Amino acid sequence: MRVMMLGAPGSGKGTQGERVAAHVGVPHIASGDLLRAEVRAQTELGRQVVGCLDSGRLVPDELVFDLVLPVVLAAAEAGGYVLDGFPRSVAQAVKLAEHAAGPERVIFLSVPEPLLVRRLLERAAVSGRSDDTRTVITDRLRLFESETRPLIDHYRAEGVLQEVAADLAVDEVTKAILAAL
Ligand code: AP5
Ligand code: MG
Repeated sequence: MRVMMLGAPGSGKGTQGERVAAHVGVPHIASGDLLRAEVRAQTELGRQVVGCLDSGRLVPDELVFDLVLPVVLAAAEAGGYVLDGFPRSVAQAVKLAEHAAGPERVIFLSVPEPLLVRRLLERAAVSGRSDDTRTVITDRLRLFESETRPLIDHYRAEGVLQEVAADLAVDEVTKAILAAL
């Protein structure tokens, strides 16, 4: 099964993505995690993307495709995936669709913005993520609105989108996602 978690920063893509992937028995593929691993390993790609990650800007498509697409295509071939953070724009979704490996189900995790900010500021205390600061959180949320939110209509038009209220307790949200799937 090919599933995608779609949602703003702090909506629970990572938290729920891991749980859904374990339940379905497919890999959880998180583009942000893959990018942060490159930075930690101090690879050439890591050096190219660290500025984007720190400031919350989107990494250029070509770099994302080079890193993430092979992993996604291999998983699609092997039986499925739970995507988290990719695709992040209509252009990235179109690229994935060109490979006939797009999601069959897209779960939109809907959370009011004040709660997103609260979750991310709380996470800042433990995450060590350079982008969990108030200013960068604001920029990430703005970028979600302009670049990623259009994916909702894109996937709704394909008939694969389901919206789940994700402002409930973690277990409740997982239950709602599994019921939707
Ligand atoms: P990415 O890592 O994808 O970050 P993000 O989209 O900003 O989302 P987060 O990881 O912050 O939140 P989440 O939705 O995973 O929520 P989580 O489960 O952690 O991307 C980072 C950067 O990488 C981007 O800014 C960009 O630079 C680059 N990038 C990545 N992909 C890219 C792409 N495709 N193209 C270009 N650039 C790309 O939950 C948040 C917190 O809330 C946690 O503390 C969690 O414990 C808590 N929580 C979760 N659910 C609940 C709940 N139900 N109740 C209470 N607390 C909860
Ligand atoms: Mg995440």
